[in-house]
Amino acid sequence: MADTGKAWDNNWYRHMSFYQIWVRSFADGNGDGIGDLYGVYDKLEYVRSLGVDGIWFSPLYPSPNADYGYDISDYRDIHPEYGTLEQFQKVLHKAHALGLKVIMDLVVNHTSDEHPWFLESRKGKDNPYSDYYIWRDKPNNWDSLFEGKAWEYDPVRGQYYLHLFAKKQPDLNMDNPKVRDEVKAIMRFWLDMGVDGFREDVINFISKKEGLPNGLPFLPAVNGMPYYKDGPHIHEYMAEFREVCREYDCIQIGEGPMTTVQSAMKYLTGEQKSLDMMFSFDHMMADCLYTEYVHRPFSLVKLKKAFTRWQKALDGKGWNALYLENHDHPRVISRYGSEHYWRESGTMLAVSYLFQQGTPFIYQGQEIGMTNIRLRSIEDYKDVSTRTNYQTYHLKDSIERRLKRIHLSSRDSARTPMQWDDDPNAGFSAAKPWFSVNPNYRRVNVAAEEGEEYSILNFYRRCLALRKSSKTLICGKYKEYFPKDKNIYMYERALGEVRYLVICSFAKMPVKVRIPEGYAKIKGQMVLCNYPGGTQITAGDLRKRACRELNLLAAEHGMLRPYEARVYRFRVKH
Ligand code: GLC
Ligand code: CA
Repeated sequence: MADTGKAWDNNWYRHMSFYQIWVRSFADGNGDGIGDLYGVYDKLEYVRSLGVDGIWFSPLYPSPNADYGYDISDYRDIHPEYGTLEQFQKVLHKAHALGLKVIMDLVVNHTSDEHPWFLESRKGKDNPYSDYYIWRDKPNNWDSLFEGKAWEYDPVRGQYYLHLFAKKQPDLNMDNPKVRDEVKAIMRFWLDMGVDGFREDVINFISKKEGLPNGLPFLPAVNGMPYYKDGPHIHEYMAEFREVCREYDCIQIGEGPMTTVQSAMKYLTGEQKSLDMMFSFDHMMADCLYTEYVHRPFSLVKLKKAFTRWQKALDGKGWNALYLENHDHPRVISRYGSEHYWRESGTMLAVSYLFQQGTPFIYQGQEIGMTNIRLRSIEDYKDVSTRTNYQTYHLKDSIERRLKRIHLSSRDSARTPMQWDDDPNAGFSAAKPWFSVNPNYRRVNVAAEEGEEYSILNFYRRCLALRKSSKTLICGKYKEYFPKDKNIYMYERALGEVRYLVICSFAKMPVKVRIPEGYAKIKGQMVLCNYPGGTQITAGDLRKRACRELNLLAAEHGMLRPYEARVYRFRVKH
């Protein structure tokens, strides 16, 4: 089944797909109710069995957990709750032996206020660490993204420090060359140990405009953003970090909140390329306005526009990071799919993004179709931004309405313990877990889905295997059909003679599909469908090439069933 065509690219990450682990909720190996690296060690075969080739670990470092690991107090160690450096090395070696690359989270926009640098810095202006952070006598008007104003008065130093996120996350002063040297030394520390790259947290925020001018008063939470997003020296600093990565042939994936494709291109393409991929946010706003807390009805057209904008802009110039979930977003079935059509929409959503051009990322639990949790009181939530949103906005609404907003938007929905089986605590831990388990675990769990041929879990495996089997699906050109259709997302991948047509229905009712021009006369073979039965083809069938030749969409009289997804393969003679 070798595809033809010249556009094959050797960059190693382009063939791969990744699994993201947020360790605290993944698997508890030592029975204290908190996920850890002992648990991860035991589950590496499972991760490999999905067909992924790498793991991204959300922060594993010591942290007071004001932002669950994204507030780091030591960049060169492992949080005692998660294990030891030695245990990390065991995980790393086993992962490598299984053929899995390992990417660490690099969080250098800020540290914890308990990091020794900050403890020194606050002592006074003549301290050697004095300029590691951003101190002012008078704050500007910026808001933080997580907790009120972006400035906090420190009585010890007698000045205010900047924090774009929570109060316990002071921003580092990246304009200080010593700070940049620290970052490079931290990178080397982990690269020397053998890790394969970094996911770089809010990396487009690290350079702030000189003078820190006041922002526009009418943009709550993001008013200062024009002065810290893609700031004046960002590309110089990124070039310095790139030098380190070049020495080790490692990869860098940036997180780019609020980034536009135009500004992302500067990181991802051309001579000054400083990142291999970027996690963009456009496609995460098809049911909200810049944060899930400001909810809007889901718009497929908006989602498709975002997908296609990035696919087109980067084609031949850069590379996309593909994702629908991570630890910062509510579960995608609850957002873009339907909990009622749980299996159908969970599998369709997999198809919608896994066959685009780019490297796919799958977040723990996504592959079994975990959904949002609905806790009864705000006190039951842990995430700092969830609590702030609840306490700041829509205060006149009833408690029920305010909680409903939290149910739709909280990052905590992605942070409930992984559902391994239907034992108490979902098999995550023998002890009471640190955070609530979603009560649907009796139905939605790995063990149950392992045994079911058409489960979401096995469907993810099938999708990843199909992607890997085809150069066309990895690096073929992307083209969207019928962008204005409100029910169907349809795109083509083409390389040489081989074409794939990916068709996804986002509708709860059967819907009619149109056939793109040029496709009516050529014969295609359906290679994937998310409905069991006559039209479903298993990986075994595929190998035996026993599947029926199908004239495109003649089946079902041209109708797609609720949340149906299909992938067709064509060979076109030029
Ligand atoms: C990134 C992380 C998020 C964290 C924030 C501040 O967006 O993914 O979890 O809260 O940065 O570090
Ligand atoms: Ca534990």
